[in-house]
Amino acid sequence: MGGDDKQAAIDTYGLEERTFPPPLEFVANALVTDRSLQEHADADHEDFWATQARELLTWQRDFDTVLEWDLPFAKWFIGGQLNVSENCLDRHVAAGRGDKVAYHWEGEPGDTRTITYAELLDEVQRFANVLKSLGVRKGDRVNIYMPMIPELPVAMLACARIGAPHSIVFGGFSSDSLADRINDAEAKVLVTADGGYRRGAAAGLKPHADVALTNTPSIEHVVVVRRTGQDVDMTEGRDHWYHELLADADPVCPPEPMESEDLLYLLYTSGTTAKPKGIMHTTGGYLTQVAFTHKYVFDLQADTDVYWCAADIGWVTGHSYIVYGPLANGATSVMYEGTPDTPGRDRWWDIIERYGVTILYCAPTAIRTFMKWGTAEPAKHDLGSLRLLGSVGEPINPEAWMWYREHIGGGQAPIVDTWWQTETGAIMISPLPGLTVTKPGSATFPLPGVGAEVVDDAGHKVELGGGYLTLTKPWPSMLRGIYGDPERYRDTYWSRFEGRYFAGDGAKLDDDGYLWLLGRVDDVMNVSGHRISTTEVESALVDHPKVAESAVVGAKDDTTGQAIVAFVTVKGDVTHSVELGEELRKHVATKIGPTARPKTVIFTDDLPKTRSGKIMRRLLRDVAEGRDLGDTTTLADPAVVEEIRRRATTAPQEE
Ligand code: PRX
Repeated sequence: MGGDDKQAAIDTYGLEERTFPPPLEFVANALVTDRSLQEHADADHEDFWATQARELLTWQRDFDTVLEWDLPFAKWFIGGQLNVSENCLDRHVAAGRGDKVAYHWEGEPGDTRTITYAELLDEVQRFANVLKSLGVRKGDRVNIYMPMIPELPVAMLACARIGAPHSIVFGGFSSDSLADRINDAEAKVLVTADGGYRRGAAAGLKPHADVALTNTPSIEHVVVVRRTGQDVDMTEGRDHWYHELLADADPVCPPEPMESEDLLYLLYTSGTTAKPKGIMHTTGGYLTQVAFTHKYVFDLQADTDVYWCAADIGWVTGHSYIVYGPLANGATSVMYEGTPDTPGRDRWWDIIERYGVTILYCAPTAIRTFMKWGTAEPAKHDLGSLRLLGSVGEPINPEAWMWYREHIGGGQAPIVDTWWQTETGAIMISPLPGLTVTKPGSATFPLPGVGAEVVDDAGHKVELGGGYLTLTKPWPSMLRGIYGDPERYRDTYWSRFEGRYFAGDGAKLDDDGYLWLLGRVDDVMNVSGHRISTTEVESALVDHPKVAESAVVGAKDDTTGQAIVAFVTVKGDVTHSVELGEELRKHVATKIGPTARPKTVIFTDDLPKTRSGKIMRRLLRDVAEGRDLGDTTTLADPAVVEEIRRRATTAPQEE
């Protein structure tokens, strides 16, 4: 598509001619090789999802209404009762698969734990009783702030077992972020660990939690898993060791019957204002769609596959595709605690070889990092067990897609580029690996049961070219709202285009009807697959006593997708310096977390603004990416930009 079409909401330039049909060998055993699922969904959307819900899950009581849709509020499988932990554990054990491995867990230092379904069920029941003994009742929120250790899925499933929604905060987030999220959810209990291992060292978590806990009045108890053995402060009466509580816990805890629409969890995601949004996911619809997508997108052969999703459970990818999807389907997964370069840059490939991983699901930012490290690293290992590769979190550029296929997938394994969001709960757009002819860099088509269309500024359907990606039908795992703020839910997702969910992403359709994701059209940056709101970083910068004003943009970056560039004006009496730039970068890391640390800080005397005082980010992005400036006619003072550009070319950058 050219940039010459004045109507196009988003200009697009990419052109990709290569196509890859599924290999015959793969098709021979694949779960989906024809269009029957699609035809069923097209013929009867509700009957299609009802069939999946009954086929994939075990219900304590069957539902009587499939869908109640009062836009933008959906209720799925009304009248149905089920328990998520029972679906993930008990029913597999009852069917004689208790000895099957649920997780091959590996710590970064090399310690391992093999956990069967029966063992997981046992630990989950005990911990569920621990939570009860700490006063957690059905409906109470439990916050979780943990490294990638087995006790994390245990804690999630224990919450699900007793009907207490969890709210997980990624272990890389700072104390302030943790406190904000605990307070928004008004959580009663926090589950954390002394620390975890990253890059060969023990990184503390409890010390961060302690800072947060000075400002979280709702928390009554804290449960601490001993992982690193480092010294931590334990507050008498409030803080308890996980292993001590577990040792005394009753081993039997029956699963609480839950309504299909009961809250399963909250997960906070950045928005365009500083306050993070508590995305709500409920029980029956969510589990149906994560089980459905995990089974068919990954072509799960539950008896033989060894599946590895290399995300962190702190993000939605881990919730849906390390914990709930794989366990609901009775899969065997690998779970890894640490970083890919410890002790060597071949750690992932070593893991894949040792466990015989057959399906790998990871982010383009990881793939681009591996590309930088070179082909010699994967070549040290036999990756012949891999039969399917997945990608998630940001657009995968065709070079990375080809490299992934060639050097990890042995030139054979199909790639599923899966588009979805925290809000969608489950994969929405993706190839079906035994059916779809793929193109490098395209997420291809909406899955059966999903309605997706690209529209222009006026909300008219685009058949060819760029525009806004919208979802046209309710789906079972859709967010049910923003915690405590139904109006913000409506405004954020359902107001831009009438009757449509607007995902915030640009997309284009090519001549063959393939979808290509073009990244976010709003002000949320995507750094290494992490969504970071420009507003949050700006708030953190302005929070520093020497800063007057700031504007933050995401600039294209070969490794992390986008890199954070901060334009900063200092207060009148302050002189700016390289040291101050460094201080500000650290300040943001402390306020929000290391992933939000700006790569570059550019000091300017003024920011480009419209006459109404709105900062013109588009121009700042042009400057940050070294492009010629677009239209500057609405600018209050055009001279400002030239000055900023001069400064930008001399600003020091982090490597
Ligand atoms: O911009 C899209 C991008 O990630 C956003 C969702 O981020 P988050 O809620 O953190 O969930 C990430 C994991 C699902 C989307 O709005 N995104 C995600 N997957 C893709 C993608 N962009 C392009 N292609 C994808 N496959």
